Amino acid sequence: MDVEEALKFTDNLALTTTGKHLDSLQKAILRGAWDNQKYKEIAEQHHRSEKYVKEVGFKLWKILSSALDDEKLCKANFRAKLENLRVGNVSLVGNGCIHIGNISAESLHSPEVSQSEPQDKDKFKEKASNSEPQVHLDLSDAPEPNLFYNRTSELTTLKQWILENRTRLITIYGLSGIGKTALTLQLIPQIQHEFDYIIYRSFRNSPPLPTLQTNLIQFVSQQQDIELPSLIEHLRSHRCLLILDDVQTIFSSGQLAGHYQPGYENYGTFFKQLAESSHNSCLILLTWEKPREIAALEGENRPCKSLQLNGLGAEAGEIFREKGLAEEEKWSQLIDLYRGNPLWLNIVATMIQDLFGGSVSEFLSYDTLFLGDLECLLHQKCDRLTESEKQVISWLASEAEPVEISKFSANLELSRSALLQAVQSLGRRLLIEKVKQGDKTLFTLQPVLMEYLKNQH
Ligand SMILES: Nc1ncnc2c1ncn2[C@@H]1O[C@H](COP(=O)(O)OP(=O)(O)OP(=O)(O)O)[C@@H](O)[C@H]1O
Ligand SMILES: [Mg+2]
Repeated sequence: MDVEEALKFTDNLALTTTGKHLDSLQKAILRGAWDNQKYKEIAEQHHRSEKYVKEVGFKLWKILSSALDDEKLCKANFRAKLENLRVGNVSLVGNGCIHIGNISAESLHSPEVSQSEPQDKDKFKEKASNSEPQVHLDLSDAPEPNLFYNRTSELTTLKQWILENRTRLITIYGLSGIGKTALTLQLIPQIQHEFDYIIYRSFRNSPPLPTLQTNLIQFVSQQQDIELPSLIEHLRSHRCLLILDDVQTIFSSGQLAGHYQPGYENYGTFFKQLAESSHNSCLILLTWEKPREIAALEGENRPCKSLQLNGLGAEAGEIFREKGLAEEEKWSQLIDLYRGNPLWLNIVATMIQDLFGGSVSEFLSYDTLFLGDLECLLHQKCDRLTESEKQVISWLASEAEPVEISKFSANLELSRSALLQAVQSLGRRLLIEKVKQGDKTLFTLQPVLMEYLKNQH
């Protein structure tokens, strides 16, 4: 077994015991252990504190020790133990797609088993052939899973929709960086044994619908050695989980939320067909904005559901711990200001380290919220808005307190219908926040967006 095989094996082991893939730091620790590196060296290479890397390593050895029933497994003997191990039917099939069946680990305590002869091999083959049906997994387009905290309730909801309610179309929508992709990558190992095929595709290059369909059919046909006439036919005859990420790239910039770009309108019909026609599969869309036809399709007992992903709560403090920030008592203030958005919190934590040596109070002592690298992300987001949406948010940025919608009309030169459409669309993009005050609904902007817009004037 070489280091790559060892990593693949260990990753599968972690997946089957904890339901999660190894993250990039855990993999770095395993590689380091394989090459006999010290924690200090691994920490330096990965820009983490030595203390933190040791903590992650300690937890990792605990997980692997219990999975392999070997209390003595540790960094020093990881390589030797794994080299004495035999791996079951984990195979790579082109394009980074992995077939996972049962993983077979012969006892770590008995190196003689690994040198054992034919009868043991037959025993092993038998084990492999008795294994559960294989899932054809194609995550070649997905990013590496990273550190991940919480999201237990979201994962429970999604599992219930998929496994119990047999929901056919799920839209997970939320701001950029809120964790849609990360959440979905956590979900996959927890439900993968329920599916024949799991395919992840990113829309970062905005594929036209026929291109996507051909690509999916090709993947599925290669696995089966037959030509399949249509995607929907395959979704009927097999249980597939199809994940389409970055769906907002097929929506128009400069139009209200959820409008398709010219040439992409047929996606609307495709999504509707997958939600309404009978099949055993599930389509998950990850997007900044909900497609417009989805609202009409969803409901309590309908096979179409949406999950609005909001920020992390106090557990986001783990991001600050990992970055080595000081003054834990101030962390909740930061989490609230940046609305628990893990990408924003990572950016801010790096900024606090770079500029204030990790002191949160020094950062907070500035009157204005410092945006740094967030400015560019917010610019991209605001650039997509219509002129009427831009007017609404610029005006809201000048209001210190949340306001009622009736006040908008008095201050903006927009027709009533244009105003309501703009406010609704901004809500769909999650750029404005609603505040309940008695029986009134008031509107305001997120602090980060407020700051960005103030800086524009
Ligand atoms: N629950 C979490 N715990 C810790 N880190 C997280 C969590 N969720 C997301 N992150 C981190 O935050 C960053 C953004 O997450 P992710 O890429 O999943 O966001 P996204 O919603 O898919 O954004 P986009 O819409 O731009 O694709 C990543 O670095 C990810 O590792
Ligand atoms: Mg994403």
